[in-house]
Amino acid sequence: MPTRKPSRTDEIAPDAAPIDIASIGEDVPLLEGLRTTRAIRRLRPDPVPPALIRKVCEAGTFAPSGGNRQPWSFVAVTAPDRRAFVAERYRQAFASYIAPALAALQKPGFPPAKRRTVESAVYLAEHLHEVPVHLFVAGTLRRGEPQTQALFPAIQNILLACRAVGLGACLTTVHRRFGDELDAFLGLPRERPTCALLPIGWPRGRYGRPPRRPVGECLFWERYPEPDAD
Ligand SMILES: Cc1cc2nc3c(=O)[nH]c(=O)nc-3n(C[C@H](O)[C@H](O)[C@H](O)COP(=O)(O)O)c2cc1C
Repeated sequence: MPTRKPSRTDEIAPDAAPIDIASIGEDVPLLEGLRTTRAIRRLRPDPVPPALIRKVCEAGTFAPSGGNRQPWSFVAVTAPDRRAFVAERYRQAFASYIAPALAALQKPGFPPAKRRTVESAVYLAEHLHEVPVHLFVAGTLRRGEPQTQALFPAIQNILLACRAVGLGACLTTVHRRFGDELDAFLGLPRERPTCALLPIGWPRGRYGRPPRRPVGECLFWERYPEPDAD
């Protein structure tokens, strides 16, 4: 059976060849995959096999959690009318979130890298209804509080697994402005709220290293340095 293996940096276009779910993504070196996992918001509308979504969610389940309580649940929304419902609320929430950045963007000297991030986030908000999988990550409350810290390792594992198998994805949270409504829409009980929405699809662009501060600016030994005296 022919298989389609994604290369590490090339665009991956869906084609007629069946995907070998067991082998896809298994050959990506861990650290190289990690360094080239970034927010991919420009996604094709082509469907993603449910077995591939299952595979990336399984990667999520290998995350650590306090007491190994594994509080996560994943809800994949794929029906077009349901995606439209989600996208409408995301768009509204995003519009108020992004307004200050859009105003700042008009000013001269706005950093080009930040401009690209804002533009790609706007693109996602405008096209979310077309993204084939809206993967919600929800988790149980602990002592009455959401334990989002117990969900983010699983979320990152899913993003890394998407990278490995050639899917594009992005961590988003602005849907929480409509959190109660969306949680009810997903059939989640109040004690299992969503924390994140990962739009997942085949990327239109390429993977690559995201811009990051050099580690030398972030790593210190023994003590964080004193501020320089004037
Ligand atoms: C807690 C958290 C919440 C985020 N929420 C959103 C969001 O609602 N919408 C969005 O487009 N991106 C969201 N992002 C993605 C960030 O914008 C992205 O990780 C950042 O710009 C770095 O992107 P890069 O890896 O492509 O450089 C979120 C990231 C984090 C960690």
